[in-house]
Amino acid sequence: MLADDGNQAAWPTADVIVGNPPFLGGKRLRSVLGDVYSDRLFAAHRGKVPADADLVCYWFARVQEEMTTGRVRHAGLVATNSIRGGANRRVLEPIAAAGNISMAWSDEPWTLDGAAVRVSLVGWGRGQATAPVLDGVAVPAIHSDLTAGVANLTTARRLQANAGVAFIGTMKKAPFEVSGVEARMWLLEPSNPNSKQNAAVLAPWSNGNRAVQRCLRARLLRRGRMPPRAARYRSCASVPVGLAFRML
Ligand SMILES: C[S@@+](CC[C@H](N)C(=O)[O-])C[C@H]1O[C@@H](n2cnc3c(N)ncnc32)[C@H](O)[C@@H]1O
Repeated sequence: MLADDGNQAAWPTADVIVGNPPFLGGKRLRSVLGDVYSDRLFAAHRGKVPADADLVCYWFARVQEEMTTGRVRHAGLVATNSIRGGANRRVLEPIAAAGNISMAWSDEPWTLDGAAVRVSLVGWGRGQATAPVLDGVAVPAIHSDLTAGVANLTTARRLQANAGVAFIGTMKKAPFEVSGVEARMWLLEPSNPNSKQNAAVLAPWSNGNRAVQRCLRARLLRRGRMPPRAARYRSCASVPVGLAFRML
């Protein structure tokens, strides 16, 4: 992405770019890439990529730049599925606004370093897409959140009436989700040797994102009630305690 002198790296001339750029959440850029590289990255992309965007977004912005300067005709990139919202989506907005997204898969399974993640795949071109296809279905147009509804929700604005009333809600900081089936089994189990119920450390959890994406509620191991020794909760103790204690 950057040359040794800190400027944007030169890319070879190409008609088409197909890529699988690295994913790295915006909040982790500095700790993983270091201050020097991060500051140069931000400086080279000021006004083009928000500083808290995922690393993958820099490739979208750069490819789009190559396209608008006429060097590239078509592109297809893999991104983390979080490109559909927040700061990440900014790089898709000009592409979608021009009607240039010709194909996209909004939310697909992927494996990264052995861990299951979800990705979006986006294909776009220099001209207006004539027959866009989203998740394998022909649609009139693909919006920057990789939906194609008649209502383009990316243009929604915050309700004034919600100011000071609504907040972003909880943010999960570690993989604490327990499947509904597993959680129900644990809830039905008899008391632990200390007469405590597993319900004490299992809580239903959801947030705004899950609500708008129509996800089912998840159950989480709750840190606040986590006992010093997870062994008090026989079933729940199978979840690594170190993991449990990292939760907000
Ligand atoms: C997900 S891998 C994809 C590799 C290959 N394109 C493929 O599809 O198999 C992402 C690639 O981006 C490279 N990469 C990571 N950070 C980078 C950066 N800051 N600038 C340029 N390349 C980077 C990694 O070394 C890695 O090769």
